[in-house]
Amino acid sequence: MYTPLHLKYRPQQLSQIIGQEHIVRTLSNAIACGKIAPAYLFTGPKGTGKTSTARILAKSLNCQSLENATTEPCGECNSCKTITNSSSVDVTELDAASHSGVDNIREIVSNLQLKPIEGRYKILIVDECHALSHQSWQALLKTVEQPPVHVVFVFCTTEIHKVPETITSRCHKFDFRRVSPRAVVDYLVEIASQESIDITLSAVTAIAKACNGHLRDSLKLLDQLTLLGDGEITPNWVWELSGTIPEHDLLTFCENIARGEITGNLGILQDWITCGKHPITIHTSLVDFLKDLLICKTNPNGRNLTQLEEDTWKELTTISQLWSTASIQSSITLLMTRQNLMRDEAAHLWLEATLIEIVPTKKNSLQPWKDWKTPQDAINWAHVQLPQMTQAQLQEHWQELTPINGKRAPAWVEAVQKLQQRQLMSIK
Ligand SMILES: Nc1ncnc2c1ncn2[C@@H]1O[C@H](COP(=O)(O)OP(=O)(O)OP(=O)(O)O)[C@@H](O)[C@H]1O
Ligand SMILES: [Mg+2]
Ligand SMILES: [Zn+2]
Repeated sequence: MYTPLHLKYRPQQLSQIIGQEHIVRTLSNAIACGKIAPAYLFTGPKGTGKTSTARILAKSLNCQSLENATTEPCGECNSCKTITNSSSVDVTELDAASHSGVDNIREIVSNLQLKPIEGRYKILIVDECHALSHQSWQALLKTVEQPPVHVVFVFCTTEIHKVPETITSRCHKFDFRRVSPRAVVDYLVEIASQESIDITLSAVTAIAKACNGHLRDSLKLLDQLTLLGDGEITPNWVWELSGTIPEHDLLTFCENIARGEITGNLGILQDWITCGKHPITIHTSLVDFLKDLLICKTNPNGRNLTQLEEDTWKELTTISQLWSTASIQSSITLLMTRQNLMRDEAAHLWLEATLIEIVPTKKNSLQPWKDWKTPQDAINWAHVQLPQMTQAQLQEHWQELTPINGKRAPAWVEAVQKLQQRQLMSIK
């Protein structure tokens, strides 16, 4: 029978948990020293390893292969096996989203008072615990406050703000993070090779980007891609299937905005909509990309703050010369004010209207030098205006420049405009 990748590769030991090093280290040490807290709270985004870690912790505490708890549960003993198939007599896994009835909880709580039958601990894993009712929390509270020595609670949630203070303050809290793009890529590459999946590195990178650090989603997407057909999986497949927008499209888009080429962008937008990209996705991709543009503009060494590939970053650096910091900010603000409208039936019209409104301020296009700090900035700006010319040719023009009223920058803008005109003439 076919097992989906995200279940086939569910981690079975702490060392197999990806991208949560701080949690793995702390829990491993706690298990090794026997310093087990009575209650844990695992919080963080979906599909980042909370439930998996809760089950591994339960196995680690109750594995029968060794005399004491172990960071390497065997997976073979009765305790490990029954935890895996949710039939352990000592470990109860409660999905609060579907079983939050208070009677159910009362029964579980009274059962916790009894000594464990085959393991060392009685463990209650409350998954999606934010869904518990007030009454259910009340039924749990006393035992969480004064737990019998053999009891361990593990609460998992994506919505920590919905968990009562009285509970959170009594738990060891672990914040699961979104897994870094690099770690996701490495992990997917390894799985693809084990499963003999033919996929390019840039397609794997595109998956990591589309899924934004959610490992379960990444594995599911990889799974779906293998069903699309024969042949090597490329980034195009990923963009198609995940409905995300290719980076190079976003680059063209930002460049068009900066140049005031509205019609070009309306065309691109039409293409996206025709290909089935959802307005929400388009909107989110644009906001994210403009945020990256802002980082690029304000912090030229800030690529690690984004998830962009080096090539894209380089191109973005060039494009950022065309924008002022203020106009990037106001574009983001404008898009954000339209966010709610992306669920509207006429979302695509709102997007069109918004794109027409987003044009960097005139002042900036007349005085681009406001953003230049070094001569190289001026040359980079010119390179965007005159992509046909090489850096070396532009350097040469810069050297020969005659300043206007002792100022080089306005003279440079004028010179570049002349060069542009000359090129236009030669094309005609
Ligand atoms: N940190 C991780 N390391 C390795 N695999 C992971 C990790 N996070 C998620 N996975 C993969 O995703 C699947 C789901 O993970 P898990 O159920 O632990 O996530 P979760 O954080 O509980 O998500 P949710 O909040 O949606 O319940 C796992 O079976 C595994 O394949
Ligand atoms: Mg979970
Ligand atoms: Zn075991």
